[in-house]
Amino acid sequence: MLIAEKYRSFAPLYDLLSAEWPVYRAGRKIGIESLDLHPGDQVLDIGCGTGLNFGLLQQRIGPGGTIVGIDRSPDMLAQARRKATRNDWTNVILIEADATTLTPTAIRADIAAQGGREYSEAALATYALSLMTDWETAWTNMILMSSPGASMGVVDMQEPTGLHSLMAPLARAACHLGGADITAHPWTGVEHNCADVMPASARGGHLQIRTGRLR
Ligand SMILES: C[S@@+](CC[C@H](N)C(=O)[O-])C[C@H]1O[C@@H](n2cnc3c(N)ncnc32)[C@H](O)[C@@H]1O
Repeated sequence: MLIAEKYRSFAPLYDLLSAEWPVYRAGRKIGIESLDLHPGDQVLDIGCGTGLNFGLLQQRIGPGGTIVGIDRSPDMLAQARRKATRNDWTNVILIEADATTLTPTAIRADIAAQGGREYSEAALATYALSLMTDWETAWTNMILMSSPGASMGVVDMQEPTGLHSLMAPLARAACHLGGADITAHPWTGVEHNCADVMPASARGGHLQIRTGRLR
């Protein structure tokens, strides 16, 4: 099954079945807490899915900030939209686009047309870049939609290490089910393009977190 089709049928159940609380919440929490966010900031959330990052981001940017969620799956975006409506988050802009093929100038214009700013003060991708065969292009596009010195974050997965490598088959299976390439290591983008890189990990190294400031 193609990854896009997988997320079409999975979207309504994603929050329930994605092992969010036992496993993946830890990574997004560390990632968002490590971003240098301020009230009023605009944050890009690339491959935002159902918007599981939105609540944590709202706590940091407040009602005067803006979340721009970009995802290629209309069904995942529909869930994100429901979440925003349910929580009365009127500062969320959702855009359907493929992060690897989008035109940054066109998306920036679209954001501005919807009341946001062309360039974002922060950009984040959680458990999303490893699903994209050309994640390097998606990362470059993230940079091209961010302001100079923006706070950047990538949270993604690798095989657990050390004692926790016993859990490797489980981690491999979870990534396979979600369509992620566990060997992609997309946080290397942060290491290449950012200064003041903060490395972190959780769940026996399965979750890798990198944040930094765009050079
Ligand atoms: C595993 S989910 C993660 C969602 C969310 N970031 C989270 O932390 O829960 C991966 C998301 O990436 C999206 N995605 C995959 N490839 C994409 C691409 N090329 N462009 C935009 N979104 C993509 C999928 O539609 C899906 O919503």
